[in-house]
Amino acid sequence: MLGDQFALFVSSVVDYAIFMLDPTGVITTWNEGAERIKGYRADEIVGKHFSIFYPLEDARNGKPDWELEVARREGRYQEEGWRVRKDGTRFWASVVITAVRDETGRLCGFGKVTRDLTEQRAQEIQRNVERDREAMQLRAHAERMADLERTKTEFLNLASHELRGPLTVLRGYNSMLEDGSIPPDQVPAVARILDAKLAQMDLLIEQMLETARLEHDSLELFRDRFDLGDVAQEQLDVFRPLAQGQFFVMSGTDVPLVVEGDRARIGTIIANLLDNALKYSPEGGEICVTMGCRDSMASVSVRDHGLGIARDHLPLLFTRFGRLPTEHNVTIPGTGLGLFLCKEIAVRHGGDITVRSAPGVGSEFTLTLPVTTG
Ligand SMILES: Nc1ncnc2c1ncn2[C@@H]1O[C@H](COP(=O)(O)OP(=O)(O)OP(=O)(O)O)[C@@H](O)[C@H]1O
Ligand SMILES: [Mg+2]
Repeated sequence: MLGDQFALFVSSVVDYAIFMLDPTGVITTWNEGAERIKGYRADEIVGKHFSIFYPLEDARNGKPDWELEVARREGRYQEEGWRVRKDGTRFWASVVITAVRDETGRLCGFGKVTRDLTEQRAQEIQRNVERDREAMQLRAHAERMADLERTKTEFLNLASHELRGPLTVLRGYNSMLEDGSIPPDQVPAVARILDAKLAQMDLLIEQMLETARLEHDSLELFRDRFDLGDVAQEQLDVFRPLAQGQFFVMSGTDVPLVVEGDRARIGTIIANLLDNALKYSPEGGEICVTMGCRDSMASVSVRDHGLGIARDHLPLLFTRFGRLPTEHNVTIPGTGLGLFLCKEIAVRHGGDITVRSAPGVGSEFTLTLPVTTG
């Protein structure tokens, strides 16, 4: 009675394929789980050899018989591997084959329990993919942190190096003022030099702060409407007295070029372009500032007749600390932050900065910004 109930139970289990094989591997019983997992009804599979469930290459290599041999010798065989359903599709199976012996020890056959682990395997693969992705994100984060660390060190090195220059000048003039070696009539001229040095230090500190804001994504742009021509004119007025052998010429359209954005920062972009035009044309010459408008983009170009830029160096221009490794740059001060910041800010306004340059001939940097309509 109990045996009947147990047989009934086995036959109705649906999550596991549970069936018997005779000592040669021929299927003798079949349950509901087996039908569900493998797709065969009892009447079409009982009497067939169980190697039918194996991928062709495994069956050809004698794997099924080898498994029975292991079960015969060890009592059981267990593995996870590919099996084949009636419709030819594969599934990932957990398999246990147990040798069944009567009380005299004679082998009556094998009990086989198979479970379909395809879903678990898919989940595991998915988990692995997610783990890999997390590991990749962690690695990227670690690299970013290392990059930030390097940037910080570069910042500190640059700040100390670049600030030391103007500081030395300030200290020198201060001690001359202290011991009275500057005649009173020269004090205004000295004050102007000190002013310029202080402005240099201010600019450097501002550039560092802006770069830090960019790093932390905390750069907030103001939104004003203004005439780009006015801003260019203002900056020209600031830079004109700083020319040493260079002279500025402004040309282009007289109509207002109304753009929208952070007026002070757009001013800084033009200031950087003018500063570079002066710094990198040590022999002097014309610096032409041209206003223009094309395809709804307003533009300011600053063209110098200076050192120019080698083609190989162009990709370095807009990178952080991207000073070019030229012989002139050894004596020309700079941090290599100017154009990097200019480009970032231009792009955040929906604009850009482009460059055309030839070594020994000169360079032209162009800032473009969308024109505001309406
Ligand atoms: N008009 C130009 N002509 C030739 N080279 C230029 C010109 N403008 C920039 N460069 C080159 O590009 C480099 C990067 O310019 P960028 O303005 O970013 O830095 P910088 O002038 O060196 O320092 P700063 O941060 O003080 O502006 C410069 O070091 C210089 O070698
Ligand atoms: Mg510069």
